[in-house]
Amino acid sequence: MEIIIHPTVKEASEEAARLIAKHISNKPDAVIGLATGSTPLPLYRALIEMKLDWSHVTTFNLDEYIGLPREHPQTYHSFMWENLFRHTNIKAENVNIPDGNAAAIPAHCAEYEKRILVAGGIDIQVLGIGSDGHIGFNEPTSSLASRTRIKTLTKQTIEDNARFFGSTEEVPKHVITMGIGTIMDARQNILLAFGQNKAKAIAGAVEGPITAVNPASALQMHAVTKVFLDDAAAGELERANYFRWVHDNKPDWQKI
Ligand code: GLP
Repeated sequence: MEIIIHPTVKEASEEAARLIAKHISNKPDAVIGLATGSTPLPLYRALIEMKLDWSHVTTFNLDEYIGLPREHPQTYHSFMWENLFRHTNIKAENVNIPDGNAAAIPAHCAEYEKRILVAGGIDIQVLGIGSDGHIGFNEPTSSLASRTRIKTLTKQTIEDNARFFGSTEEVPKHVITMGIGTIMDARQNILLAFGQNKAKAIAGAVEGPITAVNPASALQMHAVTKVFLDDAAAGELERANYFRWVHDNKPDWQKI
């Protein structure tokens, strides 16, 4: 894991945006995995400002709530169109988001995995992290080899996400999420975490043991994962200063 710590969310998000922009300009038909939540919003704003050519890009989203009408403002479908896609020239047919209203969920999940393979696999997967260490919606104790499937949210995640819905009762309990195995197959992962309430999960993911109790810790086994943090999210890392030192002393050719 490469840990990149910036004083502000803006600087961290802009560096992550430069990395994605560089990839899309080198490979116009790139396959990009996307995440939702409040964390990637500044990244998406930075990407929109760069006015990239998305016309040949294919995207796969990590997850979706089950049972909300597709046009509900809190579906990840609505989130992605509102906060990224409608500001780009991406083709609707190249956008893939799990269907939370699929009639046969296991078959839909298997088909989603197949679509990723047919697209050539994910080049860069963007990830946030839950306060309990979840990535996508892979809650603690998810199999580290899991594939796209249905999951039941923890009470903690329902409470964390209630702010988008108005009350905990309105948050769906079930979701479809790429598995940790699916995420591990991406050629590169970019995990973003900002704010003090992510500091514990990040410390566990980066410096703790690899354990299904902190699903993001599986990324220690991924060859190309960059973790973009602000100072607050890095607050519980024992080696924060080492990570800053590494970033400040990169050879020019390695800089983003
Ligand atoms: C949800 C999403 C995750 C996201 C997490 C954190 O659970 N499924 O992909 O990382 O929320 O959200 P936020 O970025 O708003 O803290």
